[in-house]
Amino acid sequence: MNVYDSERMAKLLAPLNYRLTSEIDSADLIIVNTCAIREKAEQKVFSFVGRLAGMKKKKPNLIIGVGGCVAQQQGQKILKRVPFLDVVFGTHAIGRLARLIERVEHERIRLVDVAPAPGIEVFDAPPEFGNDGQVTRFVTIMQGCDNYCTYCVVPYVRGREQSRQPDKIVEEIQSLVNCGVREVTLLGQNVNSYGRKEGLCTFAELLERVNAVDGLARFRFTTSHPKDLSTLLCRAFRDFDKLCSHIHLPVQSGSNGVLKRMNRRYTREHYLGKIAELRHYSPRIAVSSDFIVGFPGETGEDFEQTLDLIHTVQYDSLFAFKYSDRPDTPAAHFDDKVPEEEKDERLKALLDLQDGITLEKHRSLVGSIQEVLVEGLSKKQSPAGGRLSGQDSTGLQWNGRAPSNRIVNFEKGPDSPLFSGDLTGKLVRVKIQAAYAHSLRGTLEGIEPAPFNSKGDQSYAA
Ligand code: 5AD
Ligand code: SF4
Repeated sequence: MNVYDSERMAKLLAPLNYRLTSEIDSADLIIVNTCAIREKAEQKVFSFVGRLAGMKKKKPNLIIGVGGCVAQQQGQKILKRVPFLDVVFGTHAIGRLARLIERVEHERIRLVDVAPAPGIEVFDAPPEFGNDGQVTRFVTIMQGCDNYCTYCVVPYVRGREQSRQPDKIVEEIQSLVNCGVREVTLLGQNVNSYGRKEGLCTFAELLERVNAVDGLARFRFTTSHPKDLSTLLCRAFRDFDKLCSHIHLPVQSGSNGVLKRMNRRYTREHYLGKIAELRHYSPRIAVSSDFIVGFPGETGEDFEQTLDLIHTVQYDSLFAFKYSDRPDTPAAHFDDKVPEEEKDERLKALLDLQDGITLEKHRSLVGSIQEVLVEGLSKKQSPAGGRLSGQDSTGLQWNGRAPSNRIVNFEKGPDSPLFSGDLTGKLVRVKIQAAYAHSLRGTLEGIEPAPFNSKGDQSYAA
């Protein structure tokens, strides 16, 4: 979501003649786009902004702004805390950013804008914006969240759920595809309740329309809430050939007591039932999740339930976070806070368990053929931005993702088909030779237009 917002900011500032730069020292404007989801993310904002003080001293005309969720939540307080800051703007003020920056440029005043936006705020990607060589892009389909999990700041900083018109979404995807984008990820805090409030089409119907977009190779969506995962949606993984076989389905905890106090509105049993249903329709589907360890009142026994759930589901990957109090959320006022050392220990135990599962899964894929969408050259040998033009690409290492979202690095093996030039944006078949903790490595087996689908790891197994 933040990547998407940053792209939107860059686009909105282009008419003021601002261009993105990777050299922070040469910048005339620095926007720090912030995340308030966990305490650590928020701390990072202030340590980063603090480091900009020296730059501002050397270059008094430099404009520095803080945007995003922390800005939305703290507004004026940030301007007080950081005296050299020019502008603070919340998540709802992105549409007004150009005007804010113009005012800072001309009037040299310090500004705060955390007022609400009139409606859903998205950017309908203009063609030139899709033309920056990226093969995968995010497309916002909804904003905000109405779920009010007791630990979560999102409903307070992103506002109530609002879905975007399906026609607009499909139009945006088509225009991205026309600019060379091959894969899109439909984005929202809770995508599977898409359209419900506004009486638009269902999420499954939206997926059907996206699947029909001419020239689109693959698509994904994130994030889904287990309580809203319908049978229709489980079936979508079987029925829509371009939908990648991967679902991110955050569970947060394996203990029913903790889930209740989190206000997640499902039980462990319901969740396991949904995983079984997904696997029924799409046996090779990759499943990832988010976990919070050390939620207030989480006992050793609750945590054992979480480990047991991970063991039962056998996730392909997961993200785990130590619980942190967030301002305004109910859980911040819950008793029985878990000591920090205990959270550290639980986090380590959880990650160790998953590392073993991931590696085992990766090893089981050695020898399989993966369909990979090539994103560019692997970083260490990338000439500029991962692109290559007009050279013989034999011997170079390329990088992309399988439908499962696994990172795959590959090169041309002795028996690989002939090719030269740029593979970026191509769907290729890769034979996996080696498994690592966070990626797979293999050799090229084939390049489109051979028949492809997005159904998973072993569709092309020899
Ligand atoms: N503390 C720790 N983790 C949190 N998350 C959300 N709020 C908190 C919090 N207060 C995690 C959840 C969510 C992910 C995006 O961030 O796991 O799914
Ligand atoms: Fe936060 Fe996700 Fe819960 Fe919404 S569903 S309140 S975004 S954790």
